[in-house]
Amino acid sequence: MIKKNISILAIESSCDDTSASVVVDGHVLSNITANQTVHQTYGGVIPELASRQHLINIIPVIDVALKTAEVSLKDIDAIAFTRGPGLLGSLIVGVSMAKSLALSLDIPLVEVHHIRAHVLAHFADEPKPPFPFLCLTVSGGHTQIELVHDYNNIEILGKTIDDAAGEAFDKTGKIIGLDYPAGPIIDKLAQEGQPIFSFPEPQVGSLDFSFSGLKTSILYFLQKEMAVNPNFIQENLADICCSVQTTIVHILIKKLSKAAAMTGIKHIGIAGGVSANSALRHTLDLTGKNKGWTTYIPSFQYCTDNAGMIGVAGYYKYLDGVFTDQHVTPLAKM
Ligand code: KG4
Ligand code: ZN
Repeated sequence: MIKKNISILAIESSCDDTSASVVVDGHVLSNITANQTVHQTYGGVIPELASRQHLINIIPVIDVALKTAEVSLKDIDAIAFTRGPGLLGSLIVGVSMAKSLALSLDIPLVEVHHIRAHVLAHFADEPKPPFPFLCLTVSGGHTQIELVHDYNNIEILGKTIDDAAGEAFDKTGKIIGLDYPAGPIIDKLAQEGQPIFSFPEPQVGSLDFSFSGLKTSILYFLQKEMAVNPNFIQENLADICCSVQTTIVHILIKKLSKAAAMTGIKHIGIAGGVSANSALRHTLDLTGKNKGWTTYIPSFQYCTDNAGMIGVAGYYKYLDGVFTDQHVTPLAKM
């Protein structure tokens, strides 16, 4: 008998979110994520704390993902997992769980590249972009523009030469005393402010990005203002957030527009944690209307780290018959 439905159990543990999902024939039936709050006051993810939390969370998260999808382990055809890039200790937890499940159920393993999965998050939802399309993938660790030829053929056109866009948000947040991750907090505060402060934008050729200079100029600007008024940050918090956010979004959209002009492609998406940013979503929408693009923005649950996107990416690798053996090890960089 030919089996009709391909059911994938997907596991994501690359950073500080433990996530599991059941994806059947490319449709996400469940997408369950346990966020970690232990890092909030440290200004960044503490790797050792992250891996310990993954150990605590992973079995309950998988259990809820299966129950929500009303699927049992015996119905699963393959285990998809994030091999990297990410924090090694965090990845080890997800990779070990994936390997143990595949071994005990005697089913294939499908390794997934975390950043490519962010791009394929566009296929977890409607409307799905046609090939080829351009994707700006912006997360805590990556910022790049991809030309997506097919599910398993993604070409990187440009990337950051130093910090990622998410890091620019998070490091600014640390400077102005916000909890980690600062991106969503800056987004919220910015809604009450105006972009009255301006910061120099990087002059990087090609389609590459740079954000480390911006972080330094924000720091020097604030140090100068605080020398005159020690309450400058508290008194101008919303305007500072709005100004920083506007600059980051402008840098991103400018490069995306350049990539669109260079390739002539008019189907354009954004992905990754920073694509949850309301100003980036709004500006993409406006720019798209001006330039005649059709734009694609994943729903919030598929923007930040989630196993749904890992299951979707795993499904398309499964269809191509690309499997991994039990010797696989996690890769912090890949
Ligand atoms: O993709 P993601 O969940 O994890 C990585 O793969 O890195 O991205 C996390 C990043 C963090 O830097 C966080 O501050 C940022 O996404 N982020 C946001 C927003 N939501 C999450 N940045 C700006 N505005 C947001 N609303
Ligand atoms: Zn991510």
